[in-house]
Amino acid sequence: MATAAGKPLVCVTGAGGFIGSSLVKELLQRGYRVRGTARNPDRKNAHLHALDGAKERLSLCRADVLDYKSLVAAFRLCEGVFHVACPVSNNDPELMAAAIEGTKNAINAAADMGVQRVVYTSSYGAVHMNPKRSPDEVVDESCWSDLEFCLKTKNFYCFAKTVAEKTAMEEASKRGIHLVVVVPAFTLGETLQPGLHLAMYMLIVSYVKGTRKTYPNAVSGFVDVQDVARAHVLVYETPTAHGRYLCIGEVVHQSEFIQMMIELFPQYQITAKCKDENAPKVKPYKFSTKRLQDLGMKFTPLKKSLHKTVICLQEQGHIPKLPHKSAL
Ligand SMILES: NC(=O)c1ccc[n+]([C@@H]2O[C@H](COP(=O)([O-])OP(=O)(O)OC[C@H]3O[C@@H](n4cnc5c(N)ncnc54)[C@H](OP(=O)(O)O)[C@@H]3O)[C@@H](O)[C@H]2O)c1
Repeated sequence: MATAAGKPLVCVTGAGGFIGSSLVKELLQRGYRVRGTARNPDRKNAHLHALDGAKERLSLCRADVLDYKSLVAAFRLCEGVFHVACPVSNNDPELMAAAIEGTKNAINAAADMGVQRVVYTSSYGAVHMNPKRSPDEVVDESCWSDLEFCLKTKNFYCFAKTVAEKTAMEEASKRGIHLVVVVPAFTLGETLQPGLHLAMYMLIVSYVKGTRKTYPNAVSGFVDVQDVARAHVLVYETPTAHGRYLCIGEVVHQSEFIQMMIELFPQYQITAKCKDENAPKVKPYKFSTKRLQDLGMKFTPLKKSLHKTVICLQEQGHIPKLPHKSAL
């Protein structure tokens, strides 16, 4: 509901992270008043204060998702909450608690503070980890990762995000919160925060710098960070939006991803060798983003997103800036 001061106040948890920062930017561009949370708002967040509209409409507050009272304070007077915060790593000792307990805390704190709508950032790690699914099956919002398989393969991140999303749904239903879930794939694109994101290291920097000598025989889904931010606002602003929304631009085999990088940036020595050369190539699975597209969502092509990502990593000094002979 808009107020005399313009659009309503909303809170973004994990505002200084990769997706959080892009979401804050999108919300400010659309005129919202935004309260962002960070565990240490005075560190690493200058990029948020530099955003257009930040001076007038952005405030940052200290909150840890494991500290219930800090979330209650952060959500005070907010019409909506975007619960984005969660470590993105298999090895973070805080992962399980921050993902699962943190999400439970966020939903309950939102309910206690009379928040009308919560948008939760899940991950396609909560969807695609299921060896029993046929490769011909269309992956859509009805699909869930297999928890036993996640544990067996030591994918603690996928395990945590699957349990966290189910927890969010259960708690929201108990507390009468209108919850909408955005389920992004591997996210690429322009990075606003200065630090190097783990996924960017694994997907791009390690290849460009030649640390990775082979690529896996694997298939991944990708989406641009601006599309992820737009999807969050789209489901927030659509009163009828409910349940899960897969947010995936393209699904490709690693070989195609590598080939795209080589074509766009031939100046880097990127490996063209598969780790598993003798095995049959894993087939990309089919997926549906019809639910999000029906709300008007259009996705950035992967090639364009990859190009933006590499340029941004160069600008930030994470990869060397060799002479650029892009095909775009
Ligand atoms: N990047 C991807 O490819 C991808 C894909 C699908 C889904 N996602 C989901 O998107 C969300 C954001 O990920 P990201 O890629 O933007 O990661 P990121 O850049 O590492 O940001 C993670 C954020 O979570 C916050 N956080 C971690 N533990 C916290 C805690 N105990 N209390 C409060 N805040 C905490 C961090 O805040 P501090 O500033 O306080 O450290 C940081 O802002 C996550 O929920 C992730 O699962 C990411």
